Amino acid sequence: MRNNRRMEFDGQTAIVTGGGRGIGKAIALQLAEQGANVAVLEIDRDSASATAAEVEKRGRRSFAASVDVSDQVQVDRAIGAVAERFGRIDVLVNNAGIGNTAPFLELTADNWNRVVAIHLSGAFFCSQAAAREMARRGYGRIVSMASIAGLMAPPEAAHYAAAKAGIIGLTRAMAMDLASSGITANAIAPGPVLTEMLREIWDEEGLKERGEHVPVRRLATVDEIARAVLFLAAPQSAYITGVVIPVDGGSVAAGSYMVEKYRRLRS
Ligand SMILES: NC(=O)c1ccc[n+]([C@@H]2O[C@H](COP(=O)([O-])OP(=O)(O)OC[C@H]3O[C@@H](n4cnc5c(N)ncnc54)[C@H](O)[C@@H]3O)[C@@H](O)[C@H]2O)c1
Repeated sequence: MRNNRRMEFDGQTAIVTGGGRGIGKAIALQLAEQGANVAVLEIDRDSASATAAEVEKRGRRSFAASVDVSDQVQVDRAIGAVAERFGRIDVLVNNAGIGNTAPFLELTADNWNRVVAIHLSGAFFCSQAAAREMARRGYGRIVSMASIAGLMAPPEAAHYAAAKAGIIGLTRAMAMDLASSGITANAIAPGPVLTEMLREIWDEEGLKERGEHVPVRRLATVDEIARAVLFLAAPQSAYITGVVIPVDGGSVAAGSYMVEKYRRLRS
């Protein structure tokens, strides 16, 4: 039987950066399932096209572009192309990112610059280009992927922590400047999520151990993070702006207590 329920994002256009895999892909597909046409801006062309094909299987229109979000020229061109093709931009999800660890005393300027450029400058470039389009219609939702690493201190990741804390500052400041334009800006701070990014850093044993650090005793799924993004991206969330929501199985609430409990469990 045909489902005639009106979906939350019917007729809207959403842009998801880094939507080729992991959390970004889950966000793109949940948005499509809720009625949105989705543009995937992703450095990896093949995975961008694969996600776009899955969006179309869900009956929506899609757009895939090979874009490095740390390059403002590429970002402006791609967001201009999305606006031209769909005539509107309702939702931007700043999700693209890379995982990287380095002990502080060994952190190189190149490494620092790359992580900050992709996470923080990328979020700025995409937000500004999309917000210019959104402001024309007086409506927009910007959701950026921070991390609990932007709220708490991760080991051997000063560059990543600084970039994610920067995204939180950017989110709050954008929320102020855009408040009178009908545009909200919010951030999600995930705890550890089972994706390729984590698999590239930890082996199976390491992933299991990381899950034990979390009060709910497991890693998050990509769909659990996507669900929170859709909540902030929805039209009904108009009164929520400038906030950062941890989706972290209680990690921020636990603070150092969980680390202590974990140490005791292992000894
Ligand atoms: N996995 C976690 O535990 C976790 C926790 C907190 C926050 N996050 C954040 O969530 C976001 C997604 O993470 P994920 O785990 O799905 O990672 P992932 O590595 O699985 O996916 C990241 C995607 O971003 C793309 N990308 C990388 N650099 C890019 C660039 N310069 N321009 C455009 N696209 C680019 C990649 O090709 C990839 O498709 C990241 O911002 C990450 O920092 C992840």
